[in-house]
Amino acid sequence: MSLVQARKITVVGAGYVGSTAAQLAASKDLAEEVVLIDVLEGRPQGIALDLNQCAAIEGFSARVVGTNDPAHTADSDVFIVTAGRPRKPGMSRSDLLEVNGRIVCDVAEYIARLSPEAIVIVVTNPLDSMVTLMRARLGFPARRVVGMAGVLDSARFCWFIAEATGASVVDVDAMVLGAHGDSMVPMPNYCTVNGVQLGDLVGPAEIDSMADRTRHGGAEIVGLLKTGSAWYAPAAASVAMAGSILRDQKRLLPSACLLNGEFGFEGLYMGVPAILGREGVERVVEVPLTMEARALMQKTAGAVAADVDAMRDLGLM
Ligand code: LAC
Repeated sequence: MSLVQARKITVVGAGYVGSTAAQLAASKDLAEEVVLIDVLEGRPQGIALDLNQCAAIEGFSARVVGTNDPAHTADSDVFIVTAGRPRKPGMSRSDLLEVNGRIVCDVAEYIARLSPEAIVIVVTNPLDSMVTLMRARLGFPARRVVGMAGVLDSARFCWFIAEATGASVVDVDAMVLGAHGDSMVPMPNYCTVNGVQLGDLVGPAEIDSMADRTRHGGAEIVGLLKTGSAWYAPAAASVAMAGSILRDQKRLLPSACLLNGEFGFEGLYMGVPAILGREGVERVVEVPLTMEARALMQKTAGAVAADVDAMRDLGLM
């Protein structure tokens, strides 16, 4: 029996993040079928045709289906939900709450109806509130609704550490927890270069500056691009999570999970280290925090709670 049980992965939203996620999922043969759905007519179909025409060159067997019809997503094993507006320069992720909240509600409706057993990875911003809303709308067990942010933020931190130390990024491990926003919590104590503590390689001021650049890593790219936000690393991060789930790899990846007392928080979605496998979030790993990290986690939890309250005021949940 093949290890890969998965048959179908659906990527919702055929923007840059979604189409890149579909390309990565197909080229890694993560599922037999990769569905790309968008409300825009022609775009997902065109991208699917283009990607299918890559198959002969790249040598993958996954088939990409582009559609505007939710019926084609039925019985998906995993969803990656990227649909929504990106930020423009000067906007915070929270500025997207209402417009993207309505999109998430529409998507949740057909996922719940047509793929009631699916595992859903939310990428849409503001991430922590959108994953909260998705879970509320789906009514799925929390282990099957997870948000992508920590893998991306940690990868950004990894890159800055590789640049600062001159070491290969392949040897760098970094961890970023908390909300996907300015209040995120880079964890220098959990950063190593092939086992060597970051603090043994660079000084505290340099670590602070890398952590700060990580916190604003998304905005730095928005500022450079001027229209839209990053897509390659966000897409790669969401496909890494999908791969760990579909292939039951049980990777430990920082993910936005519903907390049930872990780290002292209850009923709140936030970025924490988690083992992702066939069952979705199989375990939240409660790592010890320094006093400073604990205070920053309180602050970031407050930011998530404020956005969730704003969604309630908007009548979204
Ligand atoms: C970023 C967006 C995807 O951080 O939130 O680039």
